[in-house]
Amino acid sequence: MKKKKKKIRLKKQAYYLLAVIVFLVVGVILGINFYNDFKYKQTNEYKLTSKGYSLEDTNVLLDKLSENSISSLINQDKNDTIVGLVKEKYFLEKNLDRYLAYIEEEEEDNLTDVVAIVNVNADHKWYEEELETDTSLNEQMIVNKFYALSEDYTPENLVSIPLDYSYGTEGENQLIEYAYDKFLDLWQAAHDEGFYLMVTSSYRDYASQKEIYDYRKATQGERKADETAARPGHSEHQTGLVVDMTSTTEPSATDFSESEAYKWLKEHAHEFGFIERYPEGKTYLTGYSPESWHWRYVGIEAATVMHEENITYDEYYAFYIAK
Ligand code: DAL
Ligand code: ZN
Repeated sequence: MKKKKKKIRLKKQAYYLLAVIVFLVVGVILGINFYNDFKYKQTNEYKLTSKGYSLEDTNVLLDKLSENSISSLINQDKNDTIVGLVKEKYFLEKNLDRYLAYIEEEEEDNLTDVVAIVNVNADHKWYEEELETDTSLNEQMIVNKFYALSEDYTPENLVSIPLDYSYGTEGENQLIEYAYDKFLDLWQAAHDEGFYLMVTSSYRDYASQKEIYDYRKATQGERKADETAARPGHSEHQTGLVVDMTSTTEPSATDFSESEAYKWLKEHAHEFGFIERYPEGKTYLTGYSPESWHWRYVGIEAATVMHEENITYDEYYAFYIAK
């Protein structure tokens, strides 16, 4: 009898013990779940998705934006424009506020254009900002309506382009030596295809550019002059990296855009490191009317990227060099 009672007591104790163990295990599991849930709710992924951003958009935002920008997104209503901007190929976070300001001021809804315009500083009026060209970048230096060279900047190692390849007088046309070497390769390749290219203008110093610009302004007015001529200090010709070219069959620059030689250059100049600097349809980014004759040496790698991505040097510089 006593033995039986003891057995029952032991059995009861075992049940209690089991119950305690089950209770503890369940508690631990619930605790872990609660803790995980609590931790997840602190993540930016949770905060963004609970604002209404899809998981896919959230991942793009998290990939492309810094912690600061993410925090500010979390503290405002869902903003689809920002998602759209961030998804743009050439999006630069440092320009985010300017993109948004431009969209609002100009009521522009083409986000690709907004990113391009702001990246090249064209959300400012031409010449409104004066930035110093970093000449230490050599063939990758930029000169445009914002970036300028100083009055006394003269490239080193200028060499003359012989009259076989250039109009004008002996020694009048010059290029930086390394650009000249590539020009010769380009010239030869064009020649092999039956085109005879001729340089009409190349290196120009500050004073010559001033003369050109002042004359156009005096004869055509400032607005017209600015469409076709750079103000002194702002001309790429002062870099010694530029050739204006026509061909012996199309010696006039105005007709050159219709020529077979130009079509060939558009397809092949990048293989020698040259780019068309002021293409058709890009005036809103370059500030200049199209110039089929103006070819700029930037190096083969950069020229190939621009050719493949169909972007101007202003866009390339903003995205790949200045960042
Ligand atoms: N025509 C080009 C833009 C220059 O003056 O440099
Ligand atoms: Zn030119």
